[in-house]
Amino acid sequence: MLAGSPDVLTPAEIKAGLKTSLIGKNIHYFKETESTNIVAREMAGSVEEGAVVIAEAQTGGRGRLGRKWLSPEGGIWLSVVLKPRMQPLHAPRLTLLAGVAVAKTIRSYGLPAKIKWPNDVLINGKKVCGILTEIGAELDAIQYVVVGMGIDANVDMETFPGDIRDSSTSLKNELGNDINRVEFVQRLLLELEVLYLKFQKEGFSSIMEEWRIMSATIGEWVKITTQARSMYGEAIGVDSEGALILETSDGKLEKIVAGNCEHLRRAHGS
Ligand code: BTN
Repeated sequence: MLAGSPDVLTPAEIKAGLKTSLIGKNIHYFKETESTNIVAREMAGSVEEGAVVIAEAQTGGRGRLGRKWLSPEGGIWLSVVLKPRMQPLHAPRLTLLAGVAVAKTIRSYGLPAKIKWPNDVLINGKKVCGILTEIGAELDAIQYVVVGMGIDANVDMETFPGDIRDSSTSLKNELGNDINRVEFVQRLLLELEVLYLKFQKEGFSSIMEEWRIMSATIGEWVKITTQARSMYGEAIGVDSEGALILETSDGKLEKIVAGNCEHLRRAHGS
């Protein structure tokens, strides 16, 4: 880190070089909090669209499917409040959009980031970012969407327990040095804003095109676990809404809207 630029994610530091006009206009900073998603949901009704909640560490970070999310210092734990005019059923679009924004930001550091369906960002097959989207909605109208992103930026992988350590990585681990987290957040918020505005102007298909280009899942053999069942097959594509199209071993096509996806090792030579 350069002398005179401490590696803290305070609003003043982030805003100093931020090129957005919507996302990050208001930033709420915590040295430590339970979960930025919880804080963002609590304030969602009273803040403007684009508000950001960011923390140096989370004591109760939340992951998808009720899992815990380890959030030590050195990572980037942030949530963005959005208020799009759209039906609740379309909210997953914003999760996919956020995955594209994170992957593009990581690629700007020269790292080969890819997206595992629906929205884990991987580098060389290892998870570097997870995204948790939560909504507040009436039956047919969204009140707010909180998009929570957790990026293992300057995290030492040795501090993670074995099972997570084997399947995860950090930007520091991949680059061999610390990154400037303030700059990363500035790039990420800009990327998010550009994609969010593009989505509103041109529709979701333009975002899905970018998603497909960076997909780690299309063409892979996968195990999909939904609330109802598990399925094996080849991920042959994603539809215009981001649902995964699976060709199962008995040749049937299944469309999966939500679930957990595991990439399987291919049989040798296949
Ligand atoms: C996943 O399970 O992959 C999603 C992880 C999402 C973690 C981020 S960190 C910032 C925000 N606050 C939370 O409590 N969770 C999300």
